[in-house]
Amino acid sequence: MRFFTIFDIVKDKATQLGHTDSEMYASLRKLKLNKKDLLPFKESGIIPTDKKVLNGILSYLEMTKVELELKLGRIPSGFEDVFLNNTKEIAKMLEEKKSVKHEEQNHNTAIKPYFSTNLGKLYHGDCLKLFKLIPNESVDTVFADPPFNLDKEYDEGVTDKNSFSGYLNWYYNWIEECIRVLKPGGSLFIYNIPKWNTYLSEYLNRKMNFRNLITVDMKFGLPIQNRLYPANYSLLYYIKGNKPKTFNIQRIPLQTCPHCTREIKDYGGYKNKMNPNGVTLSDVWTDIYPVRHSRVKHRKFNELSVKLLDRVISMSTNEGDIVLDPFGGSGTTFAVSELLGRKWVGFELGNCEIIKERLENKETDRETLEKVYEEKNKLFPDKIKKLRKKNGLWTDEDFSSNNKCENESGDKKGGKQIELSLE
Ligand SMILES: C[S@@+](CC[C@H](N)C(=O)[O-])C[C@H]1O[C@@H](n2cnc3c(N)ncnc32)[C@H](O)[C@@H]1O
Repeated sequence: MRFFTIFDIVKDKATQLGHTDSEMYASLRKLKLNKKDLLPFKESGIIPTDKKVLNGILSYLEMTKVELELKLGRIPSGFEDVFLNNTKEIAKMLEEKKSVKHEEQNHNTAIKPYFSTNLGKLYHGDCLKLFKLIPNESVDTVFADPPFNLDKEYDEGVTDKNSFSGYLNWYYNWIEECIRVLKPGGSLFIYNIPKWNTYLSEYLNRKMNFRNLITVDMKFGLPIQNRLYPANYSLLYYIKGNKPKTFNIQRIPLQTCPHCTREIKDYGGYKNKMNPNGVTLSDVWTDIYPVRHSRVKHRKFNELSVKLLDRVISMSTNEGDIVLDPFGGSGTTFAVSELLGRKWVGFELGNCEIIKERLENKETDRETLEKVYEEKNKLFPDKIKKLRKKNGLWTDEDFSSNNKCENESGDKKGGKQIELSLE
């Protein structure tokens, strides 16, 4: 599937007519369309609702609205029944016209890793080329945090400025590769701003099984005029096939007031039924923070936290499984994989040296991960538990004798644990 905007179709028509940009706009002006009338159709897949604009575009394209919708890759509105009642004929017509596509098979073993460890290999270059090194169905989890097409500054040779549809089509190409290399039941996580993830979800829903759209609460910029303040990233979580090959529940502490250590939300009076290992992680993550402190930061910008990667990797893999990240960046995915005993494969088009240095000296990441584990899978972190005891508040220890829960299977057998939602 390829993504087109109306602007792309107008540009294609201009190319066919041999028009330069200014000739194209001059012709559109004759049809009473200004440059700014086309702007909304450059950065979205919508069709004009304004009749004057629609008719001007259709005249330039010499098309009907039905043809335009077909060009955009959709069933024209109002024709869904006609389409569905004639699928046999349509399929026959399409199959007759199908051109035979030769897939490039290039398991080029001549490409050497930039760096390797006992557990993983990092390759320098464009992910679309490097994916060819990876055999079908060989990876347990793919985590991808690509550039967001926001025209941000990256290393030399790396661009973050593409057309709307150019970005999506690039995305679709490497997503296909992620799907190809994942084992049945393997997990795909894609981190992006919500705008792009809505388009990617539409694409992925046809190919993989949706698990969650995880909202990662983070204030990442200045307020934008006439819009809601953007305060979340989204993490798409899909699996290949019907059920995940691995899903390890993650637990986090009960939210407490930093001053008085009381619980922030009411637990409904079932505290003695609560799981001493913590609250089940929800799909809204409010405890992930930007990596800002220079002591733990490996590059100027675009570095995800160890806590986020620990969650993704611990949830979807077991020791010895393989994690792939096509957009290595500062190497967070690889550092966490190493510390958790996962194998890994990584690509990075920009500077690979920072990843190499990071993996050669894992002490800072180890300390950060230890801090993450001080709070993980516990109803109360030790420090909070101590303070609560001092404040005369209950802790899980008050109930632990009749509420032992070693692991998740313990949960299921007992069947009595009450899970708290974070809401
Ligand atoms: C948002 S950053 C990833 C940050 C990473 N998750 C971390 O925690 O450090 C995206 C990275 O993708 C790299 N990149 C961009 N285009 C690429 C491509 N075609 N192939 C491989 N890497 C690419 C960029 O150089 C950048 O380092």
